[in-house]
Amino acid sequence: MAKVVKIVIFAKSNLQAIYWPKIYNLLTMNILKTIVETKVSMNELHKQGKSIGFVATMGALHDGHLQLIKQSKRENDYTICSIFINPIQFNKTEDLEKYPNQIEKDIELLEAENCDFLFNPSVEEMYPEIDQTEFDFGNLEDVMEGANRPGHFRGVAIVVKRLFEIIEPTRAYFGKKDYQQLLIVNSLVEQYNLSPEIIGCEIIREESGLAMSSRNQRLSFGQKRKAPSVYTHLKKARDLKEYLAPDVLKRWIEEKYIGHDDFRLEYIEVADGNNLQPIEKWEDTDKPMIFIVVHMGAVRLIDNIELY
Ligand code: PAF
Repeated sequence: MAKVVKIVIFAKSNLQAIYWPKIYNLLTMNILKTIVETKVSMNELHKQGKSIGFVATMGALHDGHLQLIKQSKRENDYTICSIFINPIQFNKTEDLEKYPNQIEKDIELLEAENCDFLFNPSVEEMYPEIDQTEFDFGNLEDVMEGANRPGHFRGVAIVVKRLFEIIEPTRAYFGKKDYQQLLIVNSLVEQYNLSPEIIGCEIIREESGLAMSSRNQRLSFGQKRKAPSVYTHLKKARDLKEYLAPDVLKRWIEEKYIGHDDFRLEYIEVADGNNLQPIEKWEDTDKPMIFIVVHMGAVRLIDNIELY
């Protein structure tokens, strides 16, 4: 019913031409392919004083994304999701080529959540020319994902800044699985005075404990059974925190992966959740966290846990 009302409001507005086709299909979401039509639609909502919640994704949606959509729908008048596999944030071509692409299924999932808009631009639409912008995120980008995936956060910052400028959301929702990305986006918003309030949302896990990720689709059945041990170690480490110093706790996890047939540890850090710098003593921070990346075959699993 709410959808019908929204469409009628639009039909009455000077956007009749854009929304007219939707009147014949009341249950589908508005799918926007161009920057111009997205700006026009969002401006119309801004003019009406509506709040806009935004969930940026690269598609291959899972329950983690859908929880962000649900939260956005609870907290805003309208929700827009973007699906754009951003080529410039992949530091390995192979990772980009293997990234799952399932746009039709994603559209069905978003429609089932009553998401109001999908922005699904092409690469040419987003990058008509090479973007030369450089960013300075200070120490936030020197560690972990920043250190291990050169250029990754520059690519994320370029696309997120562009998306925020096109949509001008009231609130934007990001999962804490990519915790470093969340802090980078916060810094981006602050540095460029961008519109949204950034909402960090809890990690959504499978029943097994495995953090949900689009890349999990590429795990074999056998790998999927073993992958949850990453979180099991993190939880055990959280229990051991009161007995072990940060460096000893880090080593305790490292040892789990030495000579392991199924996993290759890329990094493990015990760090301050405020600034991501490694800590020597628990008293160094009020937000101690553990961050980990392990590889299972060609799949990179990323996870973290709060120790406070
Ligand atoms: O977290 C992601 O899926 C991507 O990094 C994002 C934020 C959609 C930018 O491409």
